[in-house]
Amino acid sequence: MWLPLQAVCWRSKTFCRRSFVVVRNKCSRHRANASVCLYTQSAGLATQTCKALLYRKHGDPSQVVQLEDIDLPPLGSNDVLVKILAAPINPSDINMIQGTYAILPDLPAIGGNEGVAQVSEVGSQVKSLKAGDWVIPRDAGLGMWRTEAVLAEDDVISLPSNVPLLSAATLGVNPCTAFRMLSDFEDLRPGDSVIQNAANSGVGQAVIQIAAARGINTINVIRDRPEFTQLSDRLKAMGATHVIKEEALRRPEIKELFKICPKPKLALNGVGGKSATELLRHLKLGGSMVTYGGMARQPVTVPVSALIFKDVKVRGFWVTQWKRDHSKDGSAFRAMLDELCSLIQHGKLTAPACTEVNLQDYSSALNTAMQPFTSAKQVLIM
Ligand SMILES: NC(=O)c1ccc[n+]([C@@H]2O[C@H](COP(=O)([O-])OP(=O)(O)OC[C@H]3O[C@@H](n4cnc5c(N)ncnc54)[C@H](OP(=O)(O)O)[C@@H]3O)[C@@H](O)[C@H]2O)c1
Repeated sequence: MWLPLQAVCWRSKTFCRRSFVVVRNKCSRHRANASVCLYTQSAGLATQTCKALLYRKHGDPSQVVQLEDIDLPPLGSNDVLVKILAAPINPSDINMIQGTYAILPDLPAIGGNEGVAQVSEVGSQVKSLKAGDWVIPRDAGLGMWRTEAVLAEDDVISLPSNVPLLSAATLGVNPCTAFRMLSDFEDLRPGDSVIQNAANSGVGQAVIQIAAARGINTINVIRDRPEFTQLSDRLKAMGATHVIKEEALRRPEIKELFKICPKPKLALNGVGGKSATELLRHLKLGGSMVTYGGMARQPVTVPVSALIFKDVKVRGFWVTQWKRDHSKDGSAFRAMLDELCSLIQHGKLTAPACTEVNLQDYSSALNTAMQPFTSAKQVLIM
């Protein structure tokens, strides 16, 4: 299945000066064929350029990603010219560059699946956007690690411009994932509990805050580290009910916790391996475990007893698929963004802890994003 996303152009020494190289940015569930085509720019038209983080082959991001000047295609009647303001480095961006993600753009490609941009110019037929609007991508694969882009009007969705920059840049993936997982799998009521691992991740921090806004308790599991207490305090300040170490999940003392907190109806697993199995062991009868990430790169093992005696439901979630399933009628995405922006405006949902990095310093940002125990999202500022 080919999913046309967006076209970008860049200058290439191997092609004549007046040529565009157009990356069709088709993504496939499987490996995409690199499909590059050339066409000639009409003589006399001045070419606008921007800077972009490109990769021409899959591999270690620090080796294959480069900052290059690229040509912007002309603005079509249904297009918008945007200035990218900020774009995070997420695990899925890294996996796409490594070539291990479920969808891969044709190569060469521009990195970055999310971020916030400001519209600077609109095509003659554009109805829903105007210069000055803030927008985020509707789908993965747009290539947000660049200073400017010409995008189709339908590729983006607007946000209120009073949302803080870092919240806007990190809104489209992790808070949306947290929102859907807390809404679509179990009927959670105030006073109910949710347990999650990787609780300090971007997704985990959004889960904590959205759950707290709904009166839902969260049991937050993180890996031990020298600054455990500081991290635990930070998560509690944003609304975490309990914060525990991975090891504590396996100890008998965990029973004490469930004397003061109801057994969770929902477990959210971003890790896999033993950590996921431990979450399952604490689920309430008939509860659901939703796997959305696999940071430990280990399969999820489900004990037979959990299936037979507790009838647990083992599910998965992928926000990209949800967005695609709801792309025809954009109202569900709009409603979710409105609710998330309202939480932001009321101070109930903040951006995850972030480190802002200038685009030029992308190499160190990519390296840092791949280190364990960083507890801060690298965000490229254009
Ligand atoms: N399915 C979806 O729709 C969807 C949407 C968004 C994100 N995701 C996935 O969710 C996961 C988290 O994304 P994010 O952007 O929230 O991540 P993030 O902010 O970059 O944080 C990464 C998290 O993973 C933990 N981690 C890293 N390596 C680990 C390991 N070997 N064992 C246990 N924990 C480990 C980190 O804990 P430490 O601090 O202890 O290193 C941290 O909590 C990723 O796998 C991402 O692809 C999926």
